Amino acid sequence: MTALLVRGGRVVDPTQELDANRDLLIRDGRIVQIAEGIAAEGDWDVLEAGGAIVAPGFIDMHVHLREPGAAHKETIATGTAAAVAGGFTAVACMPNTEPALDSPALIAEVLRLARAANLARVYPGAAITRGRAGAELAPYWRLYDAGAIAFSDDGGTVKSARVLRQAAIYARDVPVPFISHCEDDDLKGDAVMNEGARSMQLGLAGSPGLAEDVIVARDLLIALETAKRFHIAHVSTAESVELIRYARGRGAAVTCEVTPHHLILHDDAFERFRADAKVNPPLRAESDAAALRKAVRDGTIDVFATDHAPHAREEKEQLLGDAPVGFSGLETALGAYALAIPDLPLGRFVELLSSNPAAILDLPGGTLAVGAAADITVFADRPWTVDSAKFYSLGKNTPFDGMELPRKAVATIVGGRIVMRDGVVNARS
Ligand code: DOR
Repeated sequence: MTALLVRGGRVVDPTQELDANRDLLIRDGRIVQIAEGIAAEGDWDVLEAGGAIVAPGFIDMHVHLREPGAAHKETIATGTAAAVAGGFTAVACMPNTEPALDSPALIAEVLRLARAANLARVYPGAAITRGRAGAELAPYWRLYDAGAIAFSDDGGTVKSARVLRQAAIYARDVPVPFISHCEDDDLKGDAVMNEGARSMQLGLAGSPGLAEDVIVARDLLIALETAKRFHIAHVSTAESVELIRYARGRGAAVTCEVTPHHLILHDDAFERFRADAKVNPPLRAESDAAALRKAVRDGTIDVFATDHAPHAREEKEQLLGDAPVGFSGLETALGAYALAIPDLPLGRFVELLSSNPAAILDLPGGTLAVGAAADITVFADRPWTVDSAKFYSLGKNTPFDGMELPRKAVATIVGGRIVMRDGVVNARS
């Protein structure tokens, strides 16, 4: 492979405390030099960054790729195309597939499909319980050896505290975290949105913030007692944030993430979007979104993650009660995060999307240090309008459709190969 020179960008890499105009040279898939004014040699490829920001490749640690079992919603090929279109060089995929990723053979199959797609790197999560059924424990060491980067029954909560505690004890020494989806099924009932003034007005069944808070509290206490590392997925309430601060104060090894939709949208807007905004956990009150934005600023939140949850359009067009939860997120995330907190320092923005998820899941990447794999996201503050019909994802539903967003990925480089440029995904080269 010849060299690739990324020229004329503003390199922002919090792991090196770097924020400066620099060129970046890549050879054989690795970063070999960062310097001012590197002179290109004749046979090098050159990517003109044109003043755009050059950052360590973004890692989305919470996506649903739907294979095996629901390729009509998304495949690993279409999901990773959406990832690189949105500026992500790697994704961690959740095991709520059909069947659930609860055996080494299934983890191997996901990795095989990801290699065939050859776009973003894919790191599979495995189930905490067999079939995500909440009863029998999955074989943690074997799943870890096969490549699982976390354990989660995401999409649902491990209902029994006894089972989760036992799981945490068994998996304690496996060096990957548990990722908790926190919703109490009984409190949630058949809710389609958040419980509050708006659900009352609309006469729709709502799920109270309490449904999340009680499980966050439970899981944090289990983390403390078992000394297992936990990561709380898609935090959506002000109270959850307080609970995480409390548990950290007590010494719990706990990290957490927030989605773009929970930062920006709230239940007041539910009527406008209906099934397009039906998601678990639901869009909460404006006061919750404000508490989440504050928690991003003050460092309580560790990671920006999308919870990319594509579904077929016909499925989302069903009656509200029948429509599945979630929507596409990979291709809007960068812009949506910038919209949520426009003045967030760039170094913090980059850290939430790269070095922090890399550290939590112990992944390569998250840095532009010389010697590291050349996984790079180039992005710019250029307003654009979301048109979900143009998504690479098969999931075309999103409450962000038609919205103007202020930031966009302009190129994605994985292992030294340009896999997306100006919005066009280059599957093979
Ligand atoms: O809205 C959601 N959709 N939340 C989840 O936790 C699961 C996801 C899905 O798999 O569709």
